[in-house]
Amino acid sequence: MKISDRITDITGGGSDGWDVFYKARRMIAAGEAVIELTIGEHDIRTSAAILDAMHKAAIGGHTGYAMVPGTPALRAAVAARIAARTGVPTGPENIVITPGGQAALFAAHNLTCAHGETAAFIDPYYATYPGTIRGAGARPRAIVTTPESDFRPTRAQLMAGTEGAVSLLVNTPNNPTGVIYGPETLADIAAACIANDLWLISDEVYDTQVWDGAHISPRSLPGMADRTLVVGSMSKSHAMTGSRIGWICGPQEAIGHLINLATHTTYGVPGFVQDAATFALGQGDAVEAEVAGPFRRRRALTLAALARQNVVKAIPAQGAMYVMLDIRATGLDGEAFALRLLEEEKIAVMPGESFGQAAAGHLRVAMTVDDAAYADALARLLAFAERQAATRA
Ligand SMILES: Cc1ncc(COP(=O)(O)O)c(C=O)c1O
Repeated sequence: MKISDRITDITGGGSDGWDVFYKARRMIAAGEAVIELTIGEHDIRTSAAILDAMHKAAIGGHTGYAMVPGTPALRAAVAARIAARTGVPTGPENIVITPGGQAALFAAHNLTCAHGETAAFIDPYYATYPGTIRGAGARPRAIVTTPESDFRPTRAQLMAGTEGAVSLLVNTPNNPTGVIYGPETLADIAAACIANDLWLISDEVYDTQVWDGAHISPRSLPGMADRTLVVGSMSKSHAMTGSRIGWICGPQEAIGHLINLATHTTYGVPGFVQDAATFALGQGDAVEAEVAGPFRRRRALTLAALARQNVVKAIPAQGAMYVMLDIRATGLDGEAFALRLLEEEKIAVMPGESFGQAAAGHLRVAMTVDDAAYADALARLLAFAERQAATRA
């Protein structure tokens, strides 16, 4: 039986740079001791207090169909959090609750792109972006940045790259680069959206992981609230990756259509998970800082280790749970380096090539094992790089 092109073409075909990841998983399954610095998953689990709230909600009977837009309490909690952090008036009518940020990205592109229309995004990118756009029936167009600009898009790149598109997807703090867009980049993004009449889809799932500078939501820029859909999630902020809970914040009319879409796709998010999320947001900023704390520490360990050598350079690690390392001085590309590091040192990292063409010759290191194991793995990675560079010389 024929399967639709929209689905068979989701991955776009070709090598996707994930061979290293799958090889690491096979080695682990075969019992090998591999240090995994690959995907964005905390080394802690969801807190006992949040799980307790989830359990109480489930035992209390919140296990039937939940309200499709989200519970009034959670929509209000998310709206209050966004209003407090951005200063943009935001109410429950601006929020729809989704099963995670990924589902929110898919819904946002379904809302904004008609079949065959162009949806722009920034390269390097979170690995699912092009497939999410294709899955929504739109055509992905990468705006390819360069390491020289720390992978921040320039105004010229944004203007040219969004011409004829209907939406632009940006992500700050950024996965995979760890870069945070400052006021200048955000002003360029807003200018391109206004000049080319685009929806901005702003993926802010790492908004609590900020090490250097500040996170500014582009929805707060002049003229942007009416054309911006913010994607948020509890996955990274509260170590709730498995609970699948996130949201879209946007203009009321758009949210109305997204609720209609949810009615015909997900039919909402489990009520006991929403109650746990409401409880978690009610715990305030301190809990979020605690969840982010280990990454802040490991980022400091990374900077200290990098300062002791001069082969590997870092893209400024300003936020998120990753550091992006420039290993071009070793003469190896990201994929060859990552494969040999896995084979020789049993350390798994992601080649930059897994995140588009811009980050070739780089590695993304997820800071997702305990401090001692992380420091040891990083030291061995840097020693490996120094040996490669020496052999090359
Ligand atoms: C940039 C970015 N956006 C969205 C997501 C999706 O997160 P979730 O669906 O767990 O909320 C991730 C997950 O790693 C991510 O890195």
